[in-house]
Amino acid sequence: MISLKNISFSYNGNMVLKDISHDFLRGSFTAVMGPNGSGKTTLIRLMNGILRPLHGAIMLRDIPMGKIRQDVLAQEMAYVPQVQMNVFPATVFDTVLLGRKPYIRWNPGKRDKEFTSSVLVKLGLDDIALKDINRLSSGQRQRVFIARALAQEPDIILLDEPTANLDLQHQHEVMALLQLLSNTGITIVIAIHDLNLALKYCSEFMLLDEGRQVAQGSHDIISKELIEDIYKVKVRIIKEEGQTFIIPLKPL
Ligand SMILES: Nc1ncnc2c1ncn2[C@@H]1O[C@H](COP(=O)(O)OP(=O)(O)OP(=O)(O)O)[C@@H](O)[C@H]1O
Ligand SMILES: [Mg+2]
Repeated sequence: MISLKNISFSYNGNMVLKDISHDFLRGSFTAVMGPNGSGKTTLIRLMNGILRPLHGAIMLRDIPMGKIRQDVLAQEMAYVPQVQMNVFPATVFDTVLLGRKPYIRWNPGKRDKEFTSSVLVKLGLDDIALKDINRLSSGQRQRVFIARALAQEPDIILLDEPTANLDLQHQHEVMALLQLLSNTGITIVIAIHDLNLALKYCSEFMLLDEGRQVAQGSHDIISKELIEDIYKVKVRIIKEEGQTFIIPLKPL
């Protein structure tokens, strides 16, 4: 479990996260949502230890994250950042193999290569294993970075807008895969703008607005009033085949 305890964060004196507390339970699949600039990426980078909170603490297995060695942390937590533009030229295979780094002493061993191959198959990337990642579509590249995270065999995966560059089919494939992983006990946290994708696949929701945590919990916290208040857009909420859909109508 990873816990945020009264976290605040500022960039050069500008407070962008204010008093955030949340427990991410083992195997939960949490959507961090909120408008542009509400603090989602900052929160995810704090959870990954790239940034340090100004106030409060982040606890992993009840240990303050700052006290956990970087190499140990890398075996427990993987991070898939937001946009990956020009990346260091490498094949898909070698990029995913990099995920094994926390387990490799000198050179990758047989097991590292086998594990990498199995992840590529799982994500349908085995056909393009020898392609340069800079020659892939952004959606294919996004899946390569998810594969690299999986190669790390983490307990927690943090992903920043993992579906942003994906077509409809791949959006659903990636979300279904993350849901499946969460069902195996991996804790998944994603920043996501698509409310309907989040509602379909995620089990927990955390809504940010201007750095404040305005709501958290399971599906029942998502109400018309809450969404309209945060996004300033009139919406209709409908239920169909047991699923909830938010339909944007017009700006308020
Ligand atoms: N490196 C930085 N230096 C200074 N301010 C920053 C930096 N990164 C983000 N900010 C500011 O912090 C606030 C939160 O940004 P953040 O990127 O966390 O938002 P977000 O919710 O991820 O937005 P988006 O939906 O656009 O990705 C914004 O006001 C942003 O301008
Ligand atoms: Mg962001």
